[in-house]
Amino acid sequence: MTDETSLLIVCLGNICRSPMAEGALRARLGEAGLGHVRVDSAGTGDWHVGNPPDSRAIATAARHGVDISGLRARQLHVDDYRRFDWILAADLQNLLDVRARAPEHASARIELLTRWVGLEADVDVGAIPDPYTGGQEDFEHVWRMVDDVARATVARLRAAIDA
Ligand code: 4NP
Repeated sequence: MTDETSLLIVCLGNICRSPMAEGALRARLGEAGLGHVRVDSAGTGDWHVGNPPDSRAIATAARHGVDISGLRARQLHVDDYRRFDWILAADLQNLLDVRARAPEHASARIELLTRWVGLEADVDVGAIPDPYTGGQEDFEHVWRMVDDVARATVARLRAAIDA
């Protein structure tokens, strides 16, 4: 089952939260020998398509030893609902938007990123808070959350392998 696992992380702009999550997931899955798990990210919005992650997101990931500078933003596409096993939304608005755009024959399962690994969601905004208008602390907070998600994802997939 895990050989087929593929995860698409979705936020609003695809330049802050979801590329940080993609970087953390790739890093932790790679360290755990689960590098075959396919991970990608996208935004519900199209403002930043083709752009690298926000410089603050790149710097925060780099401080934690992960290079996300090569990633480029793209918008969620209707084909993603068949190409991925899971589409995991960064916050509740993202989740509503992803669900609302789902085509009739979507096969991907759709969930909140934090909930997919059973982590507590941020009570104020439902999940991973948008750091775009915030400061460095907010990006650090996002990194801690996505790294927790990445570690918990390794545990979830290992449990599936062992089952
Ligand atoms: P993200 O953050 O959804 O975590 O990538 C944002 C990036 C850009 C904008 C909003 C949120 N924006 O409005 O341009």
